[in-house]
Amino acid sequence: MANESEVMRIRAWLDAFIDSHRTGQEPVDSAIQLKAEHTLNVRREILDIGRSLSLEAEDLGTAEILALLHDVGRFEQFARYRTFSDLRSEDHARLGARILRRAGVLEGWDAASRSLVLFAVEHHNRAYLPAAADSRSLFFLKLLRDADKIDILRVATEYYRGLHRHDAIPMGLPDDPAISESVVQGVLAGAVVKMEEIRTLNDFKLLQMAWVFDVHFPRSFEIIRQRRFLDYIEAALPATEPVREAAAAARRYIEGPHAPQRQFSGDHS
Ligand SMILES: [Fe+2]
Repeated sequence: MANESEVMRIRAWLDAFIDSHRTGQEPVDSAIQLKAEHTLNVRREILDIGRSLSLEAEDLGTAEILALLHDVGRFEQFARYRTFSDLRSEDHARLGARILRRAGVLEGWDAASRSLVLFAVEHHNRAYLPAAADSRSLFFLKLLRDADKIDILRVATEYYRGLHRHDAIPMGLPDDPAISESVVQGVLAGAVVKMEEIRTLNDFKLLQMAWVFDVHFPRSFEIIRQRRFLDYIEAALPATEPVREAAAAARRYIEGPHAPQRQFSGDHS
């Protein structure tokens, strides 16, 4: 289904959908623009990772469509609730899948392709990969999650470095020196941190640091190293011993010899 004209059709639908959420007023429009740019960056990152795996044109098209559609829920979420916090509003991934069904964006697709896209959109923001999925769906979900994390790390570290200051990025979390012990322990243990544990902006920075433990493809590891995201997050945190140790654990993982190899070789047709 994911041929060039289908990618173009979906891109046109997305552009119109995004435009329908612009209001002509700040700060709504800048929040919409933030996610519009994020979407196009995730598209670029997913194609980069996909090419590093020598994916065929049709699979690259599927990957591109996932990137274009993964955050459709964000536009309606901000329009309705004026926040990007799922905890304070609703799960934007589930909302996104609902929007795609409601708008009939994938009508005309075969059932397997449709459910692959809806599955990836609906699960792209989960703390953990879902266990029950066929290997092809899981492969594309991993691609999407890697590409998404890479661009969120860009947005977040640009914010921490003062390169732009959009209020929607810290999601209303208090910017005080406190760091939750459970969050530090999670990073030290090499575990993904859950959003429910987050109390402060510093906790959130550590949660983003811990994303490296849920990255799948060698190209993603390489990008994270090259763009120095961990350095920027650490520099934005208090220079305490627990922070230093947490950053060292994340860095050991991303720089270590155990970067995973290509994980998909199954029913890939
Ligand atoms: Fe998202």
